[in-house]
Amino acid sequence: MSETAQIKLSEKTYDLPVITGTENEKAVDIAKLRDLSGYITLDTGYKNTGATQSAITFLDGELGILRYRGYSIEQLAEKSSFMEVAYLLIYGELPTEKQSADFQNEISRHTLVHEDMKKFFDGFPSHSHPMGQLGSLVCSLSAFYPESLESNQTETEINLTIIKMLAKMSTIVSWIYKKSLGNPIVYPQNKYDYVSNFLHMTFGQRTEEYNVDPVLVDVMNKLLILHADHEQNCSTSTVRIVGSSDCNLYASISAGISALWGPLHGGANQAVIEMLEQIKNDGGDTAKWIAKAKDKNDPFRLMGFGHRVYKNFDPRAKIIKKACDDILEKLGVNDPVLEIAKQLEEVALKDEYFVQRKLYPNVDFYSGIIYRALGFPTDMFTVLFALGRLPGWIAQWKEMKANKEPIGRPRQVYVGATEREYVEKQSR
Ligand code: ACO
Repeated sequence: MSETAQIKLSEKTYDLPVITGTENEKAVDIAKLRDLSGYITLDTGYKNTGATQSAITFLDGELGILRYRGYSIEQLAEKSSFMEVAYLLIYGELPTEKQSADFQNEISRHTLVHEDMKKFFDGFPSHSHPMGQLGSLVCSLSAFYPESLESNQTETEINLTIIKMLAKMSTIVSWIYKKSLGNPIVYPQNKYDYVSNFLHMTFGQRTEEYNVDPVLVDVMNKLLILHADHEQNCSTSTVRIVGSSDCNLYASISAGISALWGPLHGGANQAVIEMLEQIKNDGGDTAKWIAKAKDKNDPFRLMGFGHRVYKNFDPRAKIIKKACDDILEKLGVNDPVLEIAKQLEEVALKDEYFVQRKLYPNVDFYSGIIYRALGFPTDMFTVLFALGRLPGWIAQWKEMKANKEPIGRPRQVYVGATEREYVEKQSR
């Protein structure tokens, strides 16, 4: 017999269905509660509300588990490539050798962005934040590919938009970087795989052959894989909810980019490095900054610490911490903020305040140190997060459409003024 939940309101009991996920996650389906009883549920910040039934990513915050389509993040980070993971997230299965080659070829064919888009790059002030540029440029793709605006696109047409989105994103990200330096942009080359092409456009020069460094390719693949999806987080929920109005993929992804920008979400990777620099310049007294983070009268928070769903550890942070040590050693980089980060982590993990609240380093705590070692400026970090998260956003948008989900539209409990008469200005 299927499980039900009872809810008692004003002496009446209502039976509500219980949904069980494949990992035995339980949810009370309250969709009919208002029709039955007149009540809605209230959960500000959606702390305990499932917005969808998804088959993409499984996450257990208590046990520190993260899996894409059933495959553990540890195995994928160790053995897979970003393109393979993108395929897995978007199409549901790991690709065969042929599928993998076809996918890469198709993407390579679409990496050029329309020449007219270069004018947008020239229009941004040289110091404008790369995330503001990225969101605008991605949204403007919809102007160049108006067929993506059509409702009722065939699967093949939707797929072409997906390929274009993936392909053009790496070119746009690289060109934002080049423009920030005032350097000439570097065009994509079809001979490279996705990550090598990105590095070629970012760190290569127009005039000479780029020497792809396998160490950099490896660490970039790892970082992008670790960021590729994270179920219904703030930016992904944004992509799904914007897409649920039947909005095109480019505009939906652009909305996700805006949501990711905030320092409480993807923007934390930039905020972490800025914080570590600030601590270093202040003399490196980590105890003082831990005390500030605990002080409720001080707005300072330990950036890169804490997570809405991980209440044990963030499995991505473990992998990134190791990758950080490895890459700094391989590149021969000695970054003093790494020591500060490790000290902060050590002190915080033993501190009653952090232990009680189950606050652990998250994915953003060490990623910035790696990006910096690779040569990226701080304000590019969140853009790199967006590049990694793109396959996840696409997969979630595609799933939302395939499931024919209704438009996202939460309710509210109104707490404002009750009805009152309009008062003329002179009488107010
Ligand atoms: N430093 C100090 N205290 C913290 C921190 C922190 N980084 N994070 C949470 N707390 C405290 C809160 O003050 C609160 O304390 P209280 O119970 O005494 O009031 C308690 O821990 C719970 O925190 P909430 O803010 O209620 O937790 P929530 O789930 O809403 O927020 C969030 C999660 C936004 C990630 C938060 O931990 C935070 O601001 N962290 C720093 C920013 C960050 O690193 N964001 C990246 C997250 S990963 C990602 O999005 C990719």
